[in-house]
Amino acid sequence: MRINVVGSGYVGTTLAASLADLGHEVTAIDIDEAVVAALNDGRAPIHEPGLDELVAEHAGGRLRATTSYDDVPAADVTFLAIQTPSREDGSIDTGALRAAAETTGEALAGGDDRHLVVVKSTVAPPSLPGVADALATGLGEPLAGDGADRVAFGANPEFLREGTAVSDFREPDKLVFGTDVDWADELLDDVFAPLLAEHDAPVVRTDPATAMTIKYANNAFLAAKVSLINDIGNACKAFGVDTYEVAEAIGLDDRIGERFLRSGLGWGGSCFPKDISALISSAEGEGYSPPMLRAAVEVNDGQPARLVAMLADHVDLDGARIAVLGLAFKPGTDDVRNSRAIPVIEALRERGATVVAYDPVATENMRERFPDLEYADSAADALDGADGAAVVTDWDEFAALDSEFDAMADPVVVDGRRVIERREGITYEGLTW
Ligand code: UGA
Repeated sequence: MRINVVGSGYVGTTLAASLADLGHEVTAIDIDEAVVAALNDGRAPIHEPGLDELVAEHAGGRLRATTSYDDVPAADVTFLAIQTPSREDGSIDTGALRAAAETTGEALAGGDDRHLVVVKSTVAPPSLPGVADALATGLGEPLAGDGADRVAFGANPEFLREGTAVSDFREPDKLVFGTDVDWADELLDDVFAPLLAEHDAPVVRTDPATAMTIKYANNAFLAAKVSLINDIGNACKAFGVDTYEVAEAIGLDDRIGERFLRSGLGWGGSCFPKDISALISSAEGEGYSPPMLRAAVEVNDGQPARLVAMLADHVDLDGARIAVLGLAFKPGTDDVRNSRAIPVIEALRERGATVVAYDPVATENMRERFPDLEYADSAADALDGADGAAVVTDWDEFAALDSEFDAMADPVVVDGRRVIERREGITYEGLTW
């Protein structure tokens, strides 16, 4: 099939390269010329394991990038993978997505062939009609199911995790097709047929608003699960009990399950914080203020301050040199959006500490956020002469640190992710164990 993917961020690039890898002819459309040039050069514009290889393999062949919408009508399906950033009040800004929908509509105006426009971006159900309206405005005619039958609007939320997005794409737990007309659903079947031939996964067929609600509920459950184990973890720490031992045992109950019970600094990234806030804000917009979701956010927001307070129990932070190990919101990515490192660094600086930060891949992104921070080239350099260390991201390489701690003045380590083993000669505190 011929497929367009509008937007070449984390989701769009993974989708475009993976669809090309499934055998489709894919056009990636992005307004950023540097991103387009990188893709056509065979380079992924973002860091995601396995993505460079896919882009390199298919660029110039089944994967083409452009800033133009001219060839949109030549394809059968257009995916919109445009960012929907959070506003101050937690709601999402769909301005860029609506603009892309309208431009896609304009490109499809006056054509004859059927075409499906699918939202990949995460959009709160109350905001979805606005995106469909923008598409119809550009098109100058109603959408399929709405009085016409040529251009259909759908939603196909993604459940990829950053850091494992390429393999997650090939081995999904489920696919969710949100469409209003049968032929749109059939087109999505065709898109994913090569994937389903290799990896059997259930396909949930529903309408666009339900599809997006499934996406929000999925992320809300996972985020709340982490917040619940962190809430219990904070109590465990007070009891002198190891939360990880507790989590391992409760995870044996398959109604609970062992995954997403890693307790510590909590969740960051471009998805959980934004999606939970948007779900709360959309529900509040409809007159319901969800207490469980608000509590999940409250627990999460409290963890960085708890880590800094724990460090302050051992080190006078005013004037101290503190190593922050890990800046990415999780291992395997250079993404620092809503990373727990941000509130940790802010709180340390507020207390008068000098922060020296290290991350294997996310330094450049964090430099945009904190240009005046001291950045070390290695964990060993960050620890050298530091009065304390905060472990923020569970990168594997931190687990191997050993004699490097000897270079600290009087080693104090507060581990927010359970990566460092307790050892002789180090004052070690686990955040929730
Ligand atoms: C999350 C979901 O897992 C994906 O299914 C979804 O597609 C994606 O959001 C999205 O909406 O696009 P992602 O944000 O990439 O994926 O990363 P996760 O692996 O879910 O981790 C999110 C955060 O939770 C990280 O900061 C991680 O450190 C934290 N976490 C995760 C924990 O603190 N404990 C855990 O047990 C698991």
